[in-house]
Amino acid sequence: MAKDTVLKCSLCNRDKKEAKILIAGINGHVCDNCITQAYNLIKEESSGDQKQQIQHSLNLLKPQAIKAKLDEYVIGQDDAKKILSVAVYNHFKRISHVAKDSKDDIELDKSNLILVGETGTGKTLMARTIARLLNVPFCIADATVFTEAGYVGEDVESIITRLLQAADYDVAAAERGIVFIDEIDKISRKGDNPSLTRDIKEGTQQALLKLLEDSVASVPPQGGRKHPDAKMIQVNTKNILFICGGAFDGIEKKIASRMNTQAVGYSASVNDEKIDKGNLLQYVSPQDLKSFGLIPELIGRLPVLTYLKPLDKEALRRILTEPKNAIIKQYKQLFKMEGTRLDFEDAVLDLIVEKAYEFKLGARGLRGICEAIMTDIMYSLPGDEKQTKQFTITLEYAMDKLKTARLNHLHVA
Ligand SMILES: Nc1ncnc2c1ncn2[C@@H]1O[C@H](COP(=O)(O)OP(=O)(O)O)[C@@H](O)[C@H]1O
Ligand SMILES: [Mg+2]
Repeated sequence: MAKDTVLKCSLCNRDKKEAKILIAGINGHVCDNCITQAYNLIKEESSGDQKQQIQHSLNLLKPQAIKAKLDEYVIGQDDAKKILSVAVYNHFKRISHVAKDSKDDIELDKSNLILVGETGTGKTLMARTIARLLNVPFCIADATVFTEAGYVGEDVESIITRLLQAADYDVAAAERGIVFIDEIDKISRKGDNPSLTRDIKEGTQQALLKLLEDSVASVPPQGGRKHPDAKMIQVNTKNILFICGGAFDGIEKKIASRMNTQAVGYSASVNDEKIDKGNLLQYVSPQDLKSFGLIPELIGRLPVLTYLKPLDKEALRRILTEPKNAIIKQYKQLFKMEGTRLDFEDAVLDLIVEKAYEFKLGARGLRGICEAIMTDIMYSLPGDEKQTKQFTITLEYAMDKLKTARLNHLHVA
C-alpha cells in the first residue's frame, strides 16, 4: 500500500509532502496550515466577542462563589474575602455595563481596594487567587521600587508595561486586568518632616493617583523601543482594577487615638459598643490612612478598605495542612513521586506553628521552617538504594534538624 500518496489533508487536500505536519484523526487528516488558519479564525472571533466573555465569567462567578473559591486557598480572613468578592463581582459587572455601551446614564464607579494587614497574612495570596480564578491578566508591583533609587526610581507607568506583558500584549485584555500594588504604606509621607524623601514619596503617590484615575498610559511595545520614533502602546487604565496592600505598621495607634477622641466627643456609639481592643484593625477607616501619611486624593481613589487579621496559632496550623496547595500536602506529593509515603507526627506540626508564631512573619515563616526540617531527607532519599516506602517525621527528628538549622534569617530585624 503506497501510504504516502494517499495521505492528504482532509480540509485543503494538500498532500503530506506539501504539508509540514499532517495530524491524523479518526476519519481523516489535517495539515499545519489549516490548523493555523482555524486557530487564527477562532482567536479573531473570540476577541471580537469580549462582551460575551465578560458576561461569561460573570455568569460563572457570583460573590458567594468567588468567596467559596477563595476559601479553598486562603484560611480565615472572612471579612476581607467577602469584601473582595463583592468588589470584584461589581467590577466585572461594571465592565460589562461599559461594554454593552449602555444608554443608561448611571455610571458605575470603579471600586479599587486597599487591604491593610501585617506581613504574611494573605494579602498577595488573596489578590493572586482572585486573578487566577477570573482568568484575567494580573501583575504585582512593589510601591517601594518607585522611591528606592530616589528620583531615578522606576517609572510608575512601568506597572502597566508589566500588566501588558502578563496579557501577552493583548491591550484589550490588559485594560480589564488586575494590578496589585504592594507595600503602599511605604510611600506614606511623614506628617511634619519636610525632607527630600517626603517629596519623593508624595510624588510617587501623585503619580500613582494618575494611574488610578482614568488615564491613558503610554508603554513601549514588546521588546522595548528599538527606535526613538517607534510607536508607544496606549493603555487606558479606566477599567483596570487596582488592589493595594500594606502592613501599615503601627496604624493601630492611630485607630485607637481616633476612637478615643470620638468616644470623648459626640459619638456615643463607640463608647456603648464593646471595643475589641485585641483587634483594632477591624475599625480601620480612611481617616487612619490619612493620619498614617497617604494623601487624601489617593485614599479617595481606593474606596473599598478592608483589613486582614494577624494570624493566630490555630490559623497557622490550618494553613499548614488545609489549603488546596498546603505546604504539608506539597511535601507529601513530592515524596509520593519518589514512591515514599510521608507522615508527620502531630507534635511536629505544632512545633512548626510555634516557631512561625515566634518569628512574627505570619504564614510566611512556615515554609522556611519546613525546609529546614525537610532538606536533609529530601537530599538523601532520592538516591537511596533501599529507598524506604514510608517515612515519618517525628518530633525528635524535627527538633534535631531545627537545632542545627540556621533559622536566623527568619527573624525580623
Ligand atoms: N490566610 C492565609 N491562608 C493561607 N495561606 C496564607 C495565608 N496568609 C498567608 N499565607 C501563606 O503565606 C505566604 C505569604 O503570604 P502573602 O499573601 O504573600 O502575605 P502578605 O500579606 O505579606 O502579602 C503565602 O505564600 C501563603 O501561602
Ligand atoms: Mg504581600
